[in-house]
Amino acid sequence: MQHVPVLFQEVLELLNPIPGGTYLDGTLGAGGHSRGILERSSPDGRVVGFDRDPQALSLARENLQEFGNRIIFIQDSYQNFQLHLNNLNWHAIDGILLDLGLSSMQLNTAERGFSFQDDGPLDMRFDPQQSLTAADLVNGLSREDLAELIFRYGEEKLSRKIADAIIANRPLVRTKDLAQLIKKVTRNRKTRIHPATRTFQALRIAVNGELDALEAFLPSALEALKPGGRLAIIAFHSLEDRIVKTFFRRESKDCICPPEIPQCVCGHTARLKELTRRPVQPAEEEINLNPRARSAKLRVAEKIFN
Ligand SMILES: C[S@@+](CC[C@H](N)C(=O)[O-])C[C@H]1O[C@@H](n2cnc3c(N)ncnc32)[C@H](O)[C@@H]1O
Repeated sequence: MQHVPVLFQEVLELLNPIPGGTYLDGTLGAGGHSRGILERSSPDGRVVGFDRDPQALSLARENLQEFGNRIIFIQDSYQNFQLHLNNLNWHAIDGILLDLGLSSMQLNTAERGFSFQDDGPLDMRFDPQQSLTAADLVNGLSREDLAELIFRYGEEKLSRKIADAIIANRPLVRTKDLAQLIKKVTRNRKTRIHPATRTFQALRIAVNGELDALEAFLPSALEALKPGGRLAIIAFHSLEDRIVKTFFRRESKDCICPPEIPQCVCGHTARLKELTRRPVQPAEEEINLNPRARSAKLRVAEKIFN
């Protein structure tokens, strides 16, 4: 059940690691992408890798042993990276990668509570030290807040109906009970995906503050890059991809004044050049080998010299 890195060749080609370079992997997982970065930047490129999940970090440590002190492992959210770079005395970096979402190890471990296919506690925390779990949200939020959360983070049209059913059946503590309840209340709906997919996505995003972390990270990632350095992000759903796309578009424009203003007053200057005008998506063969890759979208931008 080891995680297969998504868009592996594409990430390496676009990130273009070089010997002596310094790289940040914000979502280390099993270390698949970092392995590629370390191999390509051999013999002396270095990586600092973050994960909130201590189990992911110990697996990555094991998998990347051969690279010795060329890789540093940090258990923290990638959004706090600057603090750690300061401690390490790393001032500017050549490349940054985020491969968002969750790993196959997390999804396939029922006790982590991420999967509607298995039965486990409604947990969904990346960091098991955090106190908030999915069960807290499911059993503690008001009907309105629950419907809003499922609508906003799951883009689920039946959010109210699902929230009503949850309220009527609380407490819910197992993933299977929640998944079955959603299946029951949405039974006339014809979709290719499991009816609980969107609600589970919404709960996971909320439990881990995933969109806030990404929004907070992007401006500081741009600051931390060297001119010519590259920022590569793999998103797995439209909410994440929209945040990345909007940031890249904005930072690659010289003026961000509203179109009705006749003369520029914003003083904004472009700091990024998009290397992927359209997101890179996996080829059919990759999706056949690794269905998890299906919804991946990779965007890469380069910091401009100015
Ligand atoms: C898709 S996996 C990464 C897989 C990795 N690229 C590989 O090749 O093995 C995403 C990882 O990011 C971690 N993660 C999610 N949000 C995070 C955050 N804000 N900070 C640090 N790690 C995070 C998850 O715990 C998970 O292990």
